[in-house]
Amino acid sequence: MSKPILVVGSLNMDLVARVARHPRVGETLLGGDFQTFPGGKGANQAVAAARLGAAVSMIGCVGSDAFGAALLAAVEKDGVDTAFIRRHPAAASGVALITVSQDGQNTIVVAAGANGQLTAQDVLSAEAAFEDAGAVVLQLEIPLPAVEAAARLGRKHGAMVLLNPAPAQPLSDGLLALVDYLIPNQTELLHLAGLSDPDQAARALLERGVRNLVVTLGEQGSRWVSPVGQKDAPAFAVRAVDTVAAGDAFVGAFAVALAEGRPVLEALRYGNAAGALAVTRAGAQPSLPTRIEVEKLLHS
Ligand code: RIB
Repeated sequence: MSKPILVVGSLNMDLVARVARHPRVGETLLGGDFQTFPGGKGANQAVAAARLGAAVSMIGCVGSDAFGAALLAAVEKDGVDTAFIRRHPAAASGVALITVSQDGQNTIVVAAGANGQLTAQDVLSAEAAFEDAGAVVLQLEIPLPAVEAAARLGRKHGAMVLLNPAPAQPLSDGLLALVDYLIPNQTELLHLAGLSDPDQAARALLERGVRNLVVTLGEQGSRWVSPVGQKDAPAFAVRAVDTVAAGDAFVGAFAVALAEGRPVLEALRYGNAAGALAVTRAGAQPSLPTRIEVEKLLHS
């Protein structure tokens, strides 16, 4: 049984258009189907963990609008505890404008809205949620002071702190020192290190004090790099329909596996399986797999 997981992060309504290809700057394209899906990296990772059987609570902020109500209802349907998700009286709920091409690749622009109103004080006021957490899971779609407050409280209460640095932005050594697992994709890895070579970027982050670096590599699986060496876990071969939230499926599943006390390599495989299943279905939260689906793929 997993220890409880606490996610501190964003909730967005995803506005998704299918496209034959992504538009160039200044270009108008006629797209295909339009759909809305509940999303946001924080909410996706919370739902990913909940579908795998973990007890999950979330700290976040949505607007007092129809999207906010729908985003809360979506995570609650999967059993995520929303007691610490604030409803902002004035800000609009976060939205993500997404295009998905025929090969499943995506572009995403996030208008943070209420997510940008989550304060360090909101996080401190929710300290009770940290008390029994086995893992605190963070991303960068909320303001950095809120992320830092959550990382500090996570360490104070003895939880593992996982940071998915997406969207990538420069991070202080002070924040990196609070993190047990830093989980970027390849693009984010290079951005964080300010380098163009992935191996050099990984080494540079370890030199800055990162304890465990977990890099998601898409069709190549995932890699764990630590001061004592590195290990790879291969991807599961699937046909990509929509890659939105594949990284979130990985992070949620990786967190659950670690919180269950599994070794890192097994947690990577668990994350890879969840990520693979997520790309076979459309939408963010609707694409996230159940525990039965993940175990079936792992044992196939
Ligand atoms: O990681 C995918 C998510 O990124 C989408 O659901 C979108 O809301 C953006 O936050």
